[in-house]
Amino acid sequence: MLSLCYDSSMKKYYEAYDQRYQIIHEKGHSWSSDTPTPIVYDVMQKYNLSSSSILQIGCGEGRDALYLLKKGYGVTASDISAEAINYCKLQNPDYCDHFIILNCINDEHEYRYDFIYSVAVIHMLVNDNDMISFCRFIHDHLNANGGFTYLFHGRWCKRISK
Ligand SMILES: C[S@@+](CC[C@H](N)C(=O)[O-])C[C@H]1O[C@@H](n2cnc3c(N)ncnc32)[C@H](O)[C@@H]1O
Repeated sequence: MLSLCYDSSMKKYYEAYDQRYQIIHEKGHSWSSDTPTPIVYDVMQKYNLSSSSILQIGCGEGRDALYLLKKGYGVTASDISAEAINYCKLQNPDYCDHFIILNCINDEHEYRYDFIYSVAVIHMLVNDNDMISFCRFIHDHLNANGGFTYLFHGRWCKRISK
């Protein structure tokens, strides 16, 4: 049996990206490409979300949110990493109000959405309690009949309705 020692003062695995972004941005580079994930836009069209309120969890450097924002979708793009959100705001001043720092595991967030999506985030939630908190956050921040979709390492996508 695998037993893990966990010290609550240690950073969580899912917080690790902040430092990665800082290091790469200091060098004048970006961490990811700016190519959007095709299935995200496909899902927006399939479920006719053009006039919906949409939350992205873990937007990183903003490639998917920006693509949707430029197409007129009402996206709020969030990430736990202050570095990532500052980068998104600096790179896209026209949309800076759409990018917010938010930890979907612990933070309070006052708004509800018609649709929530995330791309390549849940593999970082290695602790069962974190995964449960993530699911609870989704549930608590969807409007009635809202939907959630996630992309897990680029392989598959699922829609869950509230
Ligand atoms: C692998 S990156 C993917 C970034 C972006 N979705 C993309 O596909 O380019 C995972 C992102 O999830 C963010 N993240 C991890 N845990 C989070 C949490 N609890 N709340 C919000 N964002 C989180 C990280 O900071 C990081 O930006």
